[in-house]
Amino acid sequence: MNVDLYERIWMWGVGVMLAVFFGSTAVAAIGSQIHPPSHVETIDPKTALTDPRFRRQGVSVDERGRVHATVVGLMFTWLPAELTLPADTPVTFHLTSPDVIHGYEIVRTNGQAMVVPGYISQFTTQFAPGEYLVACNEYCGVGHHMMAARLRVVPKGRWQAPAREAANVQ
Ligand code: CUA
Repeated sequence: MNVDLYERIWMWGVGVMLAVFFGSTAVAAIGSQIHPPSHVETIDPKTALTDPRFRRQGVSVDERGRVHATVVGLMFTWLPAELTLPADTPVTFHLTSPDVIHGYEIVRTNGQAMVVPGYISQFTTQFAPGEYLVACNEYCGVGHHMMAARLRVVPKGRWQAPAREAANVQ
């Protein structure tokens, strides 16, 4: 087969580029353990609602004073559908799903995560006072468009931490 010189140069060029791309991805993933942003904590979706980490949904405060929000997404609602959070305070969200993939999107904030059965999604963010809409941004079935929740973010001084025994996050 007769391949033109310039054709050959381009083929080699493309080959080298692909090798560099795959090589650098492999080095980062394996060597430096860099993965796409995710919190790899697994859970059995069949028992997610009775799992100690998700048995009680809602807001809790751990012994170091950090605020956590535990949320379960299931067809077609968020549990709980309303959360009251303190403003200007980091809140760590823990999310899972017992059924299909949902998307927890706190509209007009940087708070967003895919909610995948079998995994616990986690992100930390904080809010200015106000009301925020949470939408499901992953098509999950006929009731997808109704799957919404609300965050009420109140000034820190007016926020009341839930009773200590309600906390379920270590
Ligand atoms: Cu849940 Cu769309």
